[in-house]
Amino acid sequence: MSTRETTDRLSRQRTRLVPRGPYNSTPLFAETAFGAVVKDVEGRSFIDFAGGIGTMNVGHSHPKVVAAIRDQAEKYTHTCFHVVMYGPYLELADRICRLTPGNYDKMALWLNSGAEAVENAVKAARYFTGRPAVIALDHAFHGRTLLGMSLTAKVRPYKRGFGPFAPEVYRIPAPYCYRCSLGLEYPGCSTACAEALSLFLKTQLSAEDTAAFIAEPVLGEGGFIVPPKDYFQKVASICRENGIVFIADEIQSGFGRTGRMFALEHFEAEPDLITVAKSLAAGMPLSGVIGRKEILDAPHVGGLGGTFSGNPVSLRAALAVLDIFEEEDLLARARILGQRLRERFDEWAERYQIIGQVRGLGPMIGLELVKNRGTKEPAVEETARVVRLALEKGLILISCGTFGNVVRTLVPLVVSDEQLEQGLAVMEEAIAEADREAG
Ligand SMILES: Cc1ncc(COP(=O)(O)O)c(C=O)c1O
Repeated sequence: MSTRETTDRLSRQRTRLVPRGPYNSTPLFAETAFGAVVKDVEGRSFIDFAGGIGTMNVGHSHPKVVAAIRDQAEKYTHTCFHVVMYGPYLELADRICRLTPGNYDKMALWLNSGAEAVENAVKAARYFTGRPAVIALDHAFHGRTLLGMSLTAKVRPYKRGFGPFAPEVYRIPAPYCYRCSLGLEYPGCSTACAEALSLFLKTQLSAEDTAAFIAEPVLGEGGFIVPPKDYFQKVASICRENGIVFIADEIQSGFGRTGRMFALEHFEAEPDLITVAKSLAAGMPLSGVIGRKEILDAPHVGGLGGTFSGNPVSLRAALAVLDIFEEEDLLARARILGQRLRERFDEWAERYQIIGQVRGLGPMIGLELVKNRGTKEPAVEETARVVRLALEKGLILISCGTFGNVVRTLVPLVVSDEQLEQGLAVMEEAIAEADREAG
């Protein structure tokens, strides 16, 4: 029988043996996890609204994913694609090329982590264009590798002390309407932040030197920021006119998270490359770059890849994920979840002053918490308190945002109605308590 002592012993080992760098948003150690519920080593159950940071859209240990992993592991776990090729690599490439937005000939490259996908998208864009520079957004998150953190716009904890950063990374304002850095209001602003890309290419950086523009269709770590409807059409068109590769980073927003397979579909814009990871393979390490054949096929033989890239066990898990989306109509479920969450959160926003804004697409929704709705001062300690209180009451919740004041929902799409209600009840209690204390 596991007890409190088990957690304490593991905690001590964690502190002694593992650097503090990899943060832990809860003190829990997992025993099992199924669907939208995680059980810890003390036998306690938690409703999971974090889903391994958006990795578990099909739920923990889905039987189809487990069966695919087991079946593949019994055949072979690794031959290295560079040495002996295998079918699942191609099968997933074929299926994903048909699923991703973009009406053109596509190819797909498989890798391990999200950051590695971002690195490879930039490599291909640079090779194809023969240009060095990459433009990213304020409030962006693209990973923790050297290029990933250089593209990321959050100093703590991602950049501080880790310089020098990769060169030829530039930044423009983000379409963050709640805190518009241009001091404008949508729609009167005519999406001036998209035009900022045009201006940037005139005042700061030559288009002839710019390989790529990279953006998350819904900015994740930066605070679940949803750009205006016409934003991506505008920036995609500026990129097209200037021969710049438009990379949509769908690592967090992909695979049904926003109620569509990919978030960019909401914006009816066409990317040149898409990066995917997280929910692609239900927690197995797998990422990819999908996009225009001529861009991905440009780098010479041996220029892309890696020992573990496109591991067959992970690829089989990803194929199972795509089957689950079809068989269980998870996109429809995602849209229903999105509506339920949105209705509930909008009600809360009327009741609790601490909620400055509710925003999101589908079930990818964030609540930005503020001390004062007029000044919009970020409610940072209160946000941490909401997360802590929720955990005490049995709900795993995580925050995000450049200012650390956004509570985000990344609930597995297979969550049952009962589990959802249970989770929402706890979330409301935690917000109500933080609101009372703040007010
Ligand atoms: C939009 C986005 N890009 C890139 C990454 C990096 O992915 P990974 O942590 O797998 O390297 C993340 C991870 O949170 C992400 O949300």
